Amino acid sequence: MSQVETYNYKVIRQFAIMTVVWGVVGMLVGVYIASELAWPWLNFDIPYITFSRLRPLHTNAVIFGFGGCALFATSYYVVQRTCHTRLFSDTLAAFTFWGWQLVIVSAAITLPLGITTTKEYAELEWPIDILIALVWVAYAVVFLGTVAKRKTPHIYVANWFYAGFILTVAMLHIFNSLAVPVSFWKSYSAYAGVQDAMIQWWYGHNAVGFFLTAGFLGMMYYFVPKQANRPVYSYRLSIVHFWALIFLYIWAGPHHLHYTALPDWTQSLGMAMSLILLAPSWGGMINGMMTLSGCWEKLRSDPILRFLIVAISFYGMSTFEGPMMAIKTVNSLSHYTDWTIGHVHSGALGWVAMISMGSLYYLIPRLFGRELHSLKLVEVHFWIATIGVVLYISSMWVSGIMQGLMWSAVNSDGTLTYSFAESVHAMHPYYVTRAIGGIFFLTGMLVMAYNVFRTVTNPKVIGINDTILTPALAH
Ligand code: HEM
Ligand code: HEM
Repeated sequence: MSQVETYNYKVIRQFAIMTVVWGVVGMLVGVYIASELAWPWLNFDIPYITFSRLRPLHTNAVIFGFGGCALFATSYYVVQRTCHTRLFSDTLAAFTFWGWQLVIVSAAITLPLGITTTKEYAELEWPIDILIALVWVAYAVVFLGTVAKRKTPHIYVANWFYAGFILTVAMLHIFNSLAVPVSFWKSYSAYAGVQDAMIQWWYGHNAVGFFLTAGFLGMMYYFVPKQANRPVYSYRLSIVHFWALIFLYIWAGPHHLHYTALPDWTQSLGMAMSLILLAPSWGGMINGMMTLSGCWEKLRSDPILRFLIVAISFYGMSTFEGPMMAIKTVNSLSHYTDWTIGHVHSGALGWVAMISMGSLYYLIPRLFGRELHSLKLVEVHFWIATIGVVLYISSMWVSGIMQGLMWSAVNSDGTLTYSFAESVHAMHPYYVTRAIGGIFFLTGMLVMAYNVFRTVTNPKVIGINDTILTPALAH
């Protein structure tokens, strides 16, 4: 029996293509809002395209559209391949695809209209939240059902990370979204005051820890060994990595609420847990990197592997930076500044986007049974994207630290040295640089879209198997 019949590849193909589509859309909006910050006239006084309305559209499109589709696609692939069995239910899997696209389209319509709960990363109003909950429960049933009917005795570690991510996100989404609807498009949170803030950042931080990290670590544990053709460096370390990471992440939310009305001990607990989090994060990073031990030369010739390994380096960088920013005294400088935005994008562009891109370059030829159109274009994409990330994050470090210092500078008589407007003025060159970095990153994404389009429309079908499909690697 061919593998097409054995495994459900259709839903993976759909999610893989939509990853590219939402990547282009979300990054385009990212470039637009970055440009609005540099040249505010781009708001054109049109409410639907003001920075404030497009910003949540950007975060929803990149995190849930681009990142979400990449997670669905890769998890469905990995769970079938490593459990040697077809997805638990084709119908439910199709429901997760169409339901998820409906969620993103609803976000793209309601957010520019100003319909929002105002909770960051949970802006969508209650009818859409219910749809998300239904899709997510279906996802859990498909994924865990597939693991349950596996034909292998062992559950490969990537599946543990995916399962941890799916279960935790279900819990976070349901509890953070509890609300009292007052009309079809307006609701009020079930929590009040500082409890609302704590629940929101318990959600927000774990959206980072589970949506933007654990799921993508699942990707790392499958696609890095596959592309490098080596076993994971230490399987034992991967298990320790998993349990330590999921135990620690859940406590770190209060570092988003330093110096607020949140009780001081809660803030200190969040800071301590964030510092300890460095250990499993770096353990995982080293495990991913060292998978290449003995075959480092492959990095010279294989741009797909380079995407994966550079992503792991950015993971290491952002998980060093995060614990530092969680220290209260450091946070008193970094909070509210562009330093946070730089940290976010070293994780989002460097880690999340690049590991997804590497995984998709591996996956798409195998899903469509066609040779990758051009490895040269993957190389081009890699360099443009890397330049883009570096421009983005270095400009944000400079502007963020400058903001923090300007805001806290005082004269000898106790008055502020700089007005807020002066600090905004000082940011201009960095905002222009960030917009240019964004254009680079988006251009790379467009190169990928072209390469993927040429690959899937290539009339020469090779057939679906696991050993083909990247043109002979360039020297
Ligand atoms: C072309 C690429 C991108 C550009 C130019 C871009 C630009 C921006 C800009 C200008 C902001 C608002 C910053 C502010 O409020 O001062 C932002 C926020 C954000 N972006 Fe992006 N972005 C890009 C890609 C991505 C990707 C791929 C992800 C996630 C996978 C992402 C996740 C986020 C998040 C989470 C925020 C909110 C940060 C916060 O509130 O601290 N971005 N982005
Ligand atoms: C050990 C790991 C990490 C720790 C301890 C950590 C810590 C922090 C801290 C202290 C902040 C600033 C909070 C504030 O001042 O408001 C922050 C913001 C953020 N981090 Fe991390 N970080 C880690 C890893 C990551 C990774 C890998 C990503 C992305 C993939 C990421 C995404 C974000 C986002 C999106 C925000 C902005 C949240 C917001 O205000 O909207 N973090 N992180």
